[in-house]
Amino acid sequence: MRLRLGPMKITFCCTDTKAEPWLQGLAAALPGADISVWQPGAPQADYAVVWAPPQQFMDEQPALKALFNIGAGVDALLKLRLPPKALVVRLDDAGMAVQMAEYVCHAVIRHFREFDGYEADTQAGRWGYRKPRLRSDYPIGVMGLGVLGERVAKALALFDFPINGWSRSPKAIDGVRGFAGADQFNDFLAASRVLVNLLPLTPDTTNVINKGTLARLQPGAYVINVARGAHLVDEDLVAAIDSGHVAGATLDVFRTEPLPAGHAFWTHPRITVTPHTSARTLRDESIAQIARKMVALERGEAVAGIVNPARGY
Ligand code: NAP
Ligand code: GLV
Repeated sequence: MRLRLGPMKITFCCTDTKAEPWLQGLAAALPGADISVWQPGAPQADYAVVWAPPQQFMDEQPALKALFNIGAGVDALLKLRLPPKALVVRLDDAGMAVQMAEYVCHAVIRHFREFDGYEADTQAGRWGYRKPRLRSDYPIGVMGLGVLGERVAKALALFDFPINGWSRSPKAIDGVRGFAGADQFNDFLAASRVLVNLLPLTPDTTNVINKGTLARLQPGAYVINVARGAHLVDEDLVAAIDSGHVAGATLDVFRTEPLPAGHAFWTHPRITVTPHTSARTLRDESIAQIARKMVALERGEAVAGIVNPARGY
């Protein structure tokens, strides 16, 4: 459906993103809008579509009504001084939750069913059975039960794993044993063997997966980090794996991206690395969502996905 509205100015400032298809998509969804790529000295716009913009962009656009982030995580944006009245609007699923669910289920099942071991056997021409593992021995703890974490927890529950979930405020999700707040964090960890991280990166959650956290997980733990690299203390994970307490990890996000050449994660035999690809921004769905929300804001209507900068997500 094409949406119609009066003239509004939209500026596009997304690093590492090809602008042209976004501009075409936004123009098709918002006929009459004046849409252009930001450059220093560009005129003031009403709305911005952004990913990791420079501080200069914010300083030169003081009257923005809203910043639309073309991702779910707003940690890079909230490091900047923002225009005083601008709402920060994150992508609200837009096709990311199902991707995250398939990535995490794949990582859990690959580990639980020992598919790496079977693959090694196959390559060596060995017909080797392994003793079936019990899913009751593999309780999974999902940190963060927001748009992505809830979808992931529900998807994992369909495979009959015991599921624990940890969030800031208490949640009631079918099939998920809920833990909330700092007070219940240690109980959550002690009840979990597989740890899946889907927290936003905030001052409270930076370095949350550290030596102490890993030690509290059940022996033979497995770590899946799909949120942000700065949630994890890299050397603590390597030490916990080398000690045998943690069996391995699947990591999609890193403190420095691309992961630097020579980093221990590249070659560790128990660590699987992917290039920040677990839940990609899908352009068409994102454009449709952003356009709908711009129209709603122009009409004074409420929209989902407004970030609380004080909370950090
Ligand atoms: P969200 O909807 O904002 O949900 C965040 C969840 O974390 C909420 O359940 C929140 O609790 C909980 N939380 C926040 N701070 C907490 C704290 N201090 N202690 C306990 N729980 C806390 O976020 P989302 O859309 O699910 O996305 C999560 C993150 O995934 C993003 O911020 C981004 O960094 C990452 N991400 C990665 C990829 C990728 O490709 N690797 C793609 C998209 C997103 P409440 O429910 O109580 O508020
Ligand atoms: C990707 O990492 C996102 O935050 O959308």
